[in-house]
Amino acid sequence: ARPPLILGLESSCDDTAAALVRGREVLSNVVMGQAELHATFGGVVPEIAARAHAEKLDLAVQAALREAQVKLADIDAVAVTAGPGLIGGVLSGVMCAKGIAAGARKPLIGVNHLAGHALTARLTDGLPYPYLMLLISGGHCQYLIARGPGEFRRLGGTIDDAPGEAFDKTARLLGLPQPGGPSVEAAARSGDPSRFSFPRPLLDRPGCDLSFSGLKTALLRERDKLVDRQGGLTETDRADLCAGFQAAIRDVLTEKTRRALALYAEEEPELPAFAIAGGVAANTAIRTELETLCASKDIRFTAPPLSLCTDNAAMIAYAGGELFAQGACDDMGLAARPRWPL
Ligand code: KG4
Ligand code: ZN
Repeated sequence: ARPPLILGLESSCDDTAAALVRGREVLSNVVMGQAELHATFGGVVPEIAARAHAEKLDLAVQAALREAQVKLADIDAVAVTAGPGLIGGVLSGVMCAKGIAAGARKPLIGVNHLAGHALTARLTDGLPYPYLMLLISGGHCQYLIARGPGEFRRLGGTIDDAPGEAFDKTARLLGLPQPGGPSVEAAARSGDPSRFSFPRPLLDRPGCDLSFSGLKTALLRERDKLVDRQGGLTETDRADLCAGFQAAIRDVLTEKTRRALALYAEEEPELPAFAIAGGVAANTAIRTELETLCASKDIRFTAPPLSLCTDNAAMIAYAGGELFAQGACDDMGLAARPRWPL
């Protein structure tokens, strides 16, 4: 039988997204970003995000249907991010999905945003369960063993900031545009990572918990020293600061991944597979280093294409499809949850 055709909706942060997915086939994947709306505030403003989602969701759905040449009547279910995230945005998505489900008489499936990221490796590469995954985004950082669409075990994670948050704050401190990840990565390309020495937090502690808030403080200190001495920052200073900062994050993620892989191997010695997901997985320096680590250990490595690393609805539709195949279904009581650990 053909896999079910799923309409997915995503609105938990600052991207309004809708997609149509059948099994592993992405028929359309519409993402309407809100970067310009939040640009002058230096971060996502929840109230502005919620209003924009409410205004744009219907348009995103319409565009996704048109692009896939599909009618609402043809879909098998509606999957929607029901958390975790900014509650106003999640509510907008859940309300929209309920309206569609009721109007078109289709089953409704609430999806955990983190599960969407976590299953992206299956959507893009058909990675079989189980596998170890590292979710690194603007709001999250954790090592998970994935055993099913609703079956995850957490091995460790950040004790303070997420790495994407650290990239965003670094960009703000250096006057680079948001989102910070891509602009810091671009600046780092011409920089000297050894000019400034940044800490490698928690490497002295066992396990695979991480910490990123100290890095930001270290960066602030180096910036202020330069500003005091020369009255501002040169392009070279910025590039060197970004390169040093990015190298520190890369080193910490690599060493903690080495440890997480060892923990995973104790549970699943036969099936070594590692996947990364989330916006920070778009970073080439980090990706390359993790790929090299896996290659040296003969571990299958999967990283989604850049467009599926950051927030999108294809991953929500895909995860919804897996849950649907297992018989999952929600009713009109589906709640929007600001917090929802996997
Ligand atoms: O997964 P995502 O789109 O949203 C969340 O669920 O958080 O991740 C967004 C985060 C932002 O913090 C952004 O700065 C970061 O991913 N990011 C990057 C890169 N591209 C996006 N961080 C480092 N390098 C990149 N190339
Ligand atoms: Zn995300």
